[in-house]
Amino acid sequence: MLQFTVITIFPEMFASPLGHSILKKAQEKGLISVRTVDLRDYATDRHRTTDDSPYGGGQGMVMKPEPLVAAIEDARKKLDNPRVVLLAPQGRLFTQEQAARLAQEKELVLICGRYEGIDERVKGFVDEELSIGDYTLSGGEPAAVVVIDAVTRLIPGVLGNEKSSQEESFADGLLEYPHYTRPEEFRGMKVPEVLLSGDHDKVRSWRRQMSLELTRRRRPDLFHKAPLAAEERGSLAAGASRLCMALLHYPVYDKNGQVVTTAVTNMDIHDIARSARTYGVPRFYVVTPVKALQKLALKILSHWEQGYGSEYNQTRKEALAVVRLKDTLDDVMLDVEREYGSKPKLVVTSARPGGKRTSFLELRDMLIKSDQPFLLLLGTATTCWSRLTAEPIIITSPCARRRLFFWIACWENKT
Ligand SMILES: C[S@@+](CC[C@H](N)C(=O)[O-])C[C@H]1O[C@@H](n2cnc3c(N)ncnc32)[C@H](O)[C@@H]1O
Repeated sequence: MLQFTVITIFPEMFASPLGHSILKKAQEKGLISVRTVDLRDYATDRHRTTDDSPYGGGQGMVMKPEPLVAAIEDARKKLDNPRVVLLAPQGRLFTQEQAARLAQEKELVLICGRYEGIDERVKGFVDEELSIGDYTLSGGEPAAVVVIDAVTRLIPGVLGNEKSSQEESFADGLLEYPHYTRPEEFRGMKVPEVLLSGDHDKVRSWRRQMSLELTRRRRPDLFHKAPLAAEERGSLAAGASRLCMALLHYPVYDKNGQVVTTAVTNMDIHDIARSARTYGVPRFYVVTPVKALQKLALKILSHWEQGYGSEYNQTRKEALAVVRLKDTLDDVMLDVEREYGSKPKLVVTSARPGGKRTSFLELRDMLIKSDQPFLLLLGTATTCWSRLTAEPIIITSPCARRRLFFWIACWENKT
C-alpha cells in the first residue's frame, strides 16, 4: 500500500480524478490511499492566509513559509518515513524512471504550490522537487494528479495485466509501437499484414522495429539514451538521429561582398525536408530573421501539415514535420542543445580549396562514435562562415546543388 498525502489549498480539486477508473479501483483494492490536507488549516490568522506579497516587489503573491512548513512537519509526524516532494517547474523532470522510483516508496507527500510559487526557504524542508514538464501550470494540483496516476499504475496489482505497464511507452526508454483493432480496413487504411499473420515472433519484431523507428523520428533525445543492442542502434540510425540540418538565409554575402538576406524558396523547404525524412534526420531548420519570409514558410508548412496537402499527400506531411523556423543560427544552436543536452558540432560545406577538410567517411565515423549532436549548415548565396563563433568541421562540396546531398553520401559510405 502506498499512502499519498497531498498538501494543497484546493483539496476539492482531487475528488474527480481520484473518483474514477484505475485510481478509484486502486483505492478500493487497498493498493493506494490518498489523503488531501488543506493548507489553510495550518494558517494562524483568522483569514487563514497562506500567501503574501514578494520581497523586492514584482507580480503576484508568494506562498508563506509558516503554514507550508507546519503542514510538512505534521505530515512527517503522522507518517513513518515519507518522501516529501514539492511540485515545481524548477524541479527534476518527472519521467517514467522517476515514477518507477517513487512507486517503491511506502509514503509520499506531495506539495502543491500556487500563485508565483513558494517561499524559497520551504525547499529546505522537502526531499526533492519534481516538474512534470517544461511548461507552467497555474498550480501544483494537476501535477500531483499526474504523479499519483503515473506512480499508481506501476504498483503491482493496479493494472489488470501486469505486462501492460512493462510494454507501454517509456517503460524501456522508447515510445510504444502503434496499435490497431477491428475493423481490418477503415476508410481505405489497412491493418499492417504482419499483425494478421498469427506469427508471434514476426509481430514482436515488427513492434520493436516500429518502436525504434517512432522513437528515433519523434524523440531523438530518448532514442539517444535508450539501452539498445548495438545492431538495433545501427550506425545509420544512431548517427542520423543526432544530425540536424539548417539552411541559413542570413547572414550571407552577395556577389559584391555585401551581407544580405536571401529568399526562402518552396523548393528548398520541400527538397531538404524530404531528404531529411528519408535519411532519419530529425530536424531541418530554416533560418531567416525576415518575418515576411517566415510567414511564407509557415504558409507552405501549414498547407502540407494541416491544410489540403496533408490529406492529399500523407508522406509529404511527414517530411515537412521535420521543418522548424528560426530567426538566427544562435536560436538553432540553442534549440539543438535543449533537445540533446549538449551543444551541436557544426558542419559546413565549402567549395574553396585549402585549410583542413574532412571527408564524408570521416564525418560518418565522427557521427557514429560521438555522443554530441551535429548541425549541418547549408548556406544560401555565399555564406559567411567566417562569422561563425564556433569552429566548424568543413566538408568540401564544389557544387551548390550537390552539397545538399553530400551528407547522404555519408551514410552510403562514399568518400
Ligand atoms: C504559477 S506556478 C509558479 C511558477 C513560477 N512563478 C515559475 O515561473 O517558476 C504555481 C505552482 O504551480 C506548480 N507548477 C507549475 N508548473 C509546474 C510544472 N511544470 N511541474 C510541476 N509543478 C508545476 C508549482 O507547484 C508552482 O509553485
